[in-house]
Parts: sequence; structure tokens; C-alpha cells
Amino acid sequence: MASTRGEFSSRFGFIMAAAGSAVGLGNIWGFPTQAASNGGAAFLLIYLILAFTLAYPALMAELIIGRHAHANAVSALRQISPNATLRRIGAGTGIIGFIVASFILSFYAIVAGWMMAYCLAAIADLFQLTGLSQWLTGFGLERNILFMLTFMALTVGIISEGVQAGIERWSSRLMPLLLVSLVLLVAYVLTLDGAMDGLRVYLLPDFDRALSPGLIVKALGAAFFSLSLGVGTMLIYGSYINDRENLPVVGGLVTLVDISIAVLAGFLVLPAMYVALHNGVEIFTATGDLISEDTLIFTVLPALFTSMGLAGVVVSCVFFFLMSIAALTSSISMLEVPVAYTIEQHGVTRKRAVVVIGLVIALFSTIILINFDSLFGLVVAITTRYSQPLLGFMFCFYAGWVWRRDQLLQELRRGNENVEHTLFWKIWPWYVRLVCPLIILVIFVQSLFGSS
Ligand code: PHE
Repeated sequence: MASTRGEFSSRFGFIMAAAGSAVGLGNIWGFPTQAASNGGAAFLLIYLILAFTLAYPALMAELIIGRHAHANAVSALRQISPNATLRRIGAGTGIIGFIVASFILSFYAIVAGWMMAYCLAAIADLFQLTGLSQWLTGFGLERNILFMLTFMALTVGIISEGVQAGIERWSSRLMPLLLVSLVLLVAYVLTLDGAMDGLRVYLLPDFDRALSPGLIVKALGAAFFSLSLGVGTMLIYGSYINDRENLPVVGGLVTLVDISIAVLAGFLVLPAMYVALHNGVEIFTATGDLISEDTLIFTVLPALFTSMGLAGVVVSCVFFFLMSIAALTSSISMLEVPVAYTIEQHGVTRKRAVVVIGLVIALFSTIILINFDSLFGLVVAITTRYSQPLLGFMFCFYAGWVWRRDQLLQELRRGNENVEHTLFWKIWPWYVRLVCPLIILVIFVQSLFGSS
């Protein structure tokens, strides 16, 4: 069976694909703006600690289950279950995972569409097509639907090519491009007046804010979303890794890339905000708090770019292009979850599965866009705030408690004869059993009672 499935061709290919999934709007938009309003370096510090102590071990649970089963989450969780009840719960978990992944994609495609529209608006500005540029940056329903559909079409196009020719090839092309444009933008923004004030906010910790429990919950949510955990994305990517690969190492590299890009994006967004302030753009509300995250990206930064003349047009185009790429390498990983399930469980061809599922998700997105005020926030909250931690808990529970211990350890040894001498071997099997589920449960309970 494994031979008919897709497989990543190399370690580099897998890391680009998994890091491509992880690095997305969560890193370049979510993390920097949250750090800006939550104590700067204090938030950064908590985020780093949580990423290594919770997100990385949870990522490993998904990768290891996926690689062991070489199958989608539904059959993977079934395979490692010892009895019928656990098999049924495992299948249910996998199915909920693919539904959640589809809903995440339905709002993600909307936001990614805005990013693409803003990128084109910069080009329209260059040719002084003011009317077009205003339409592209306005919040009209037609624009929203058109760009959501365009973004979905790109996602569908890549996923229909399969694991190597689609996911791996495009991630390996787009991720280096993303890194280069990010570094160039950071270097440029740091030369502008006011940038140092932003750096100061980013690098000087405000521990008064950091010690609030609400902030820790936020940082946990950010780390979880950022590493694409809890929907089976990493499980399915893990299922495409060959048996010779050393999983703790590649999982560690993916975590490192994800965190580094988030931290680097902080060096862009926070200084840019204070450059905007320096240029007379308001970034604080009347009560002295920072304005909201979406206003920051879609109002403050564009206002900054406009005030910079021609250079601003170029910077704006590169910035929104960067956002669009980051979103695309993440959205393909979301779509792969329901697609892999449908291909493997129902014997449908990849092309057909991709088109049908793509259309269904585009329909969800359209419904969200038509009822934007009531649905958008709700879908984001249900999927990222509640479902992701809960499903992440289930993956750790299956790795730590349901799966036979000797089989888990045997999977860990695969591709890595020396693993028994590593710290990972000594800590992780217990950690995933006890610490991960406990912390996730605490986050979940906290978020249920809305302490943020
Ligand atoms: N990790 C992605 C981001 O940071 C979002 C994502 C969530 C991707 C869940 C896949 C699955 O934007």
C-alpha cells in the first residue's frame, strides 16, 4: 500500500513542505502583532518557551503516528488502537480533524485573498490606476469573493499535482523566496526613521503584561496555530516521510524554521509600526492600547507605504506578496488533509477529490463572506481556539496512552539507531503521555472560560 502513496523525495523537500505549512499568516501577521500588544520581548520569551516545550513534542506525536501508519489520520489512529472502541474514537478524531482543517482553510483563503488584492493594488498604484487600487483595497463582496476564489484555485492547482510534484516542488520554490523577501524587507525597514522605537518595544520585555494568565493562553494558542497542530496536517505530512528519516531531528528543524520566521517577522512589523507613527499614522486607540491586528496590517502598513512614495509601492507589493506566499504554502497543507482522507478511504482519484473538496470549501468561504460579521470571528474561534487544542490533546493521548509502548518505541528507532542515547528518547515518551495532554487541557479549560 505504501508504494502507491506519495512520498517526499528528500529531507530538504520535507522540511520545506512542513515549514511551509507551519510558516503562514500566523507567523507574519499573528505573532508580531500579538507581541506588539502583549509586552514585546516578554511575549516573545513565553512564545519561545512554549514552542519548544509544548508545540515541538506535540508535533512529534503527529509526525510519528503518521510515519508509522503511512496513512491519513483516520486510518492511522485506527491502526494504533487496540480495540474497537478506541478505533471508533480514533476514526472520529481523524474525521473531526479534516472538517476543522477545511473550516480553517475557508477563513484562511479569505484573508489570503485580501493579501493578494493588496499586492496587486500596489502595482495598480504604480500605474496610477487609482480607481482600480481603491476597488482592490476596499471591502467589497465582489472583490472578496473573486480573490478568495483565485487563492483557492491556486491551492487546488498545487494539491492536484500530488505530494512531490505539487506540495514538495512548490514549497521548495516558495519558501526560499519568502525568506529572501522577508530579510530584504527587514533590512530596509530598519533603516527608516522611527524603526528603533519599534525595536525597543520588541526587545524590551514588559513583564507586567507577560505575567497575566490570559497572555500565556494567547501565546500557547499562537504556538499551536503556528505549527499547524491539531488538525492532522502534520500527521499527513509525516505519513509521506520515508522510514530512513530521523524524525526528532527533522521535526526539530521544522520547529526552528517556524520560530525563526516568526521572530524575524517581528523585526519587520514592529519597527514598521513605529515608522508609521513617526510619519504621523496613528497606531494607538484613544485608551492608549495598540489598534487591532487587522487594522494594523490593512490600514497602518498601507498608510505607511503610501507615505513613502515610490519606494513604498515596491515595499508594499513585496510585503503582501510575501504574505500571499506564506499563506499558500500553508493552505495547501490544509487542503491535503481532507484530500488524502477522501483518496485513501473512498478510492477517489486525486484530481476529482481536490476539485470537489475545493469547491465545497470555496462555498463555505462564500457563505462566511456573505455573513461576514456574524460568521468570520465565530469560525476562527471555534477552529483555532477550541478544536485545535482539543484535537492536539487527542493526538498526544493516542501517542502516549493508546498506542502500544513497544510499537511506539520501535517507530522511534526507525531511521535512527542511536536514538536510545539521546535526551529525546529519555524524555519524550513520558512527556507526550503526561505533560503534553495536561498542559493542553489547561489551555483548553482556560480558553473555554475566556480568560484572555
Ligand atoms: N501554521 C499556519 C500559520 O501559521 C496555519 C495552519 C493551521 C496551517 C493549521 C495548517 C493547519 O499560518
